[in-house]
Amino acid sequence: MIDKEKNEALASVKKKIIAEMVCPLKDAATNIVFGKGNPNAEILFIGEAPGRNEDLQGEPFVGAAGKQLDELLKIIGLELKDVYIANILKYRPPENRAPTKEEIIRHTPYLVEQIRIIGPKIIITLGNYATKFVLAGFDPEKMKHVGGITHLHGIPVERTVYGKKYSIIPMYHPAAMLYNGALRGIIVEDFRRAEEYLKMSRTIGTCDS
Ligand code: URA
Repeated sequence: MIDKEKNEALASVKKKIIAEMVCPLKDAATNIVFGKGNPNAEILFIGEAPGRNEDLQGEPFVGAAGKQLDELLKIIGLELKDVYIANILKYRPPENRAPTKEEIIRHTPYLVEQIRIIGPKIIITLGNYATKFVLAGFDPEKMKHVGGITHLHGIPVERTVYGKKYSIIPMYHPAAMLYNGALRGIIVEDFRRAEEYLKMSRTIGTCDS
């Protein structure tokens, strides 16, 4: 798909969520938070759920966690034009509580559509929920079999889902740096390692092209 077709396809998924998705989070939200960035990017970041600022502005990662993510992207030489950023949930959970299984089941079919349209080679998952969902092969029912981010962070893995190969790099959620300053160094180190991996993937073509 060329850029224009991808933009149109993404816009129609967004319209579909607004028109048909049934979820109490939607009724309470100010805006849908669908995604941002370059739909043609090879790298897709998946976060957890919108927070207050994201809900108000209708864009992912524009609040405090967004500042941390921007900084991490900058450290490894990436800008918004190089990536696409989406979330597991499309609407904000109250008080930023963790997503429930039911919400994940309702919201992620649309995320899977986004992933198929964008067709990334590399998926960088931010936090436990995104990591479990992606490593479970996009199947919420299998998330419980995936280990926690404490064990998985910073280590790239390959997965083939619905016939397409992805390199997946699980990362701590950038908001973790806000709550636990000690994690900052580890997260920066994981991003630097990811940068090396991205460079190597481009040089030796580890990923499907
Ligand atoms: N945290 C997320 O996981 N996503 C956002 O969009 C903002 C904060």
